[in-house]
Amino acid sequence: MNCDIKEILLSKEQINEKVKELGAKISEDYKGKDLFVVVILKGSVIFAADLLREISIPVTIDFISVSSYGSGTTSGQVKIIKDLSCSIEGKNVLIIEDILDSGNTLFNLTKMLGDRNPESIEICTLLNKPDRREAEVATRYSGFDIPDEFVVGYGLDYAEKYRNLPYIGILKREIYEK
Ligand code: IMP
Ligand code: MG
Repeated sequence: MNCDIKEILLSKEQINEKVKELGAKISEDYKGKDLFVVVILKGSVIFAADLLREISIPVTIDFISVSSYGSGTTSGQVKIIKDLSCSIEGKNVLIIEDILDSGNTLFNLTKMLGDRNPESIEICTLLNKPDRREAEVATRYSGFDIPDEFVVGYGLDYAEKYRNLPYIGILKREIYEK
């Protein structure tokens, strides 16, 4: 285990099992539909790479990079760092996110993508921190509810580090409080 990690919250095996489950559900729900997956950079890349291979129906993939400003449901805004490269008009969009925390990012992103006239728009998040919610976000697919702890690994970072850990771990407090 990496020495900056206090505790492994979700093992490689637990994640793998959940990803398979989510992939099967998505494949079933979108059967016969035009599935357009939007991967949010960078944290969701590892989750998306595994999840996409558990989806057995045809799928189009695109990437978006955003940063969130403000909070709450009225003043929050997302700034697009890198936009999608294709139109989502008439598509069944599924946003893949690593973690839903305050909800501000996804609240604003779904609103913004919703204005582009997709047929539907849903969210699949691997992790959910319900205690921290500020904005109401409906997630059709959610992997694990986790406590209010700062976690890294499996794509999630602290200061761009730890994304490559194969598990999800709680970061030692002294790392981000120093
Ligand atoms: P929200 O807008 O507060 O829901 O922010 C979600 C984003 O915050 C995620 O996409 C992550 O980039 C980041 N984030 C929130 N909690 C954690 C965590 O525990 N570890 C790593 N990144 C986190
Ligand atoms: Mg992120």
